[in-house]
Amino acid sequence: MKFFVDTAEIDQIKELNDLGMVDGVTTNPSLIAKSGRDILEVTKEICDLVDGPVSAEVVALDADTMLAEGRKLAKIADNIAVKVPLTWAGLQTCKALSDEGVMVNVTLCFSANQALLAAKAGATFISPFIGRLDDLNLDGMELIGDIRTIYDNYGFETQILAASIRSANHMKDAALIGADVATAPPAVIKAMANHVLTDKGLAGFMADVEKAGIKIL
Ligand code: E4P
Repeated sequence: MKFFVDTAEIDQIKELNDLGMVDGVTTNPSLIAKSGRDILEVTKEICDLVDGPVSAEVVALDADTMLAEGRKLAKIADNIAVKVPLTWAGLQTCKALSDEGVMVNVTLCFSANQALLAAKAGATFISPFIGRLDDLNLDGMELIGDIRTIYDNYGFETQILAASIRSANHMKDAALIGADVATAPPAVIKAMANHVLTDKGLAGFMADVEKAGIKIL
């Protein structure tokens, strides 16, 4: 499973990228607003830093303006994936940009039918939002599984990008169920390293290091 990092914070992307943990980046208008940066500037900086796809989201609601925005975003760098919402206008924009050879990430997906439409419209990535479904006592991971089955049934090449990930368990479950990509905040990716038995085991080893005076350097 590829790891995308879900942030527009350059320092955090750099730290994970230096460790080989970043196969791509996703942003959205809320993350750009949080960064306090200009969308075009910060997106360019991210694209220069990371080799993989960098999702940058349009902000218009109608297809003509979305397409113009998407073309402008796509000019930032070769690794831009234009992000469009899963509306009818977003699907129209997806089809037009895909036909022009631009990567498209269709976002705000909450149903298998929406994912089916995105694949038909030539999406490179479909972003089902796990956490926001779980927040409503629905099952976000079940949606990922349904989309996996449908895409595999018909050989759709659209990659399932599990989004709105809130915990390390979401990462494990997305990997088990066969998501192609998971995008997560840096803190969630780092939390995957944690285990209470690792901490306990290390504390035991350190106590013995102290007791026996073990030195390597
Ligand atoms: C990523 O592409 C999405 O924009 C993001 O994962 C949404 O996450 P949230 O539901 O935590 O805002």
